[in-house]
Amino acid sequence: MQALRTRRFGRESLFFEEVDSTNRWLLENEELFHLSGATVVADHQTAGRGRHGRQWHDTPGKSLLFSVLIRPEAKGAPLELLSLMAGTAVAQTIGRIDRHFFEKLKVKWPNDVLIDDHKVAGILIESISAGTKFCAAIGIGVNLRQNDDELPKATRWPASSLQLLSSISISREGLLAEILAELETAYDLFQEGRTAELIESWSSLSLPLGTELAVESGDRVSKGTYSGIGTEGQLLLKGSDGIIHGIHSGEILWREACDE
Ligand code: BTN
Repeated sequence: MQALRTRRFGRESLFFEEVDSTNRWLLENEELFHLSGATVVADHQTAGRGRHGRQWHDTPGKSLLFSVLIRPEAKGAPLELLSLMAGTAVAQTIGRIDRHFFEKLKVKWPNDVLIDDHKVAGILIESISAGTKFCAAIGIGVNLRQNDDELPKATRWPASSLQLLSSISISREGLLAEILAELETAYDLFQEGRTAELIESWSSLSLPLGTELAVESGDRVSKGTYSGIGTEGQLLLKGSDGIIHGIHSGEILWREACDE
């Protein structure tokens, strides 16, 4: 892989012109790789997986689609934090491409990357465990070169692509190498248990505290005031009763007035 400046991430890599899902492939073939960082990239996925059982559609050659295998050693480190970690790594990398991106960039809990409130990247972490063995695939999809009519329409959050939002030409391979470098550094922090630093980096790119949110979790929608991120990566929402509730899994539906 061109321009790779990592020690492990992406050093073992495979490229598919077409595969059903890079996450599925990597987890089913994880025994081929011994270390963290093996990377599978695809030009097109025929059954790309999104969060909450949704499909992640792509137009061949227009996105950056890849999965990275990790084998966490840190006992007791909350894996939900991996989602925040990956979102931050992708957002920070995208933010360096174009200074206009940086000004308009946000992460949306748990791990969407938005520019100007349009989703440009999504992350899906899937894992397998058997006995003492545990590994996870960090799956990342970045909308790179889609035109308006190639982007999904029926999504809860409008989508856009980096090319639609910037006049700078972005190399897919270069972007991949940069995200892998950022991800490797963040994963080292995760392994060292420096999770407060990961939460701080994520929070600096997130909504202001005090934003009114509606969050869907299973068949329940909770409304409240955004009150930060807990030590396990859970969203802290203050309800009208003044009590702060931690939400471990769910999706932000909308936000209202900001109380900066
Ligand atoms: C989301 O719903 O926002 C998460 C989308 C994650 C898509 C990526 S593309 C590469 C990897 N392989 C998959 O099947 N999904 C993830």
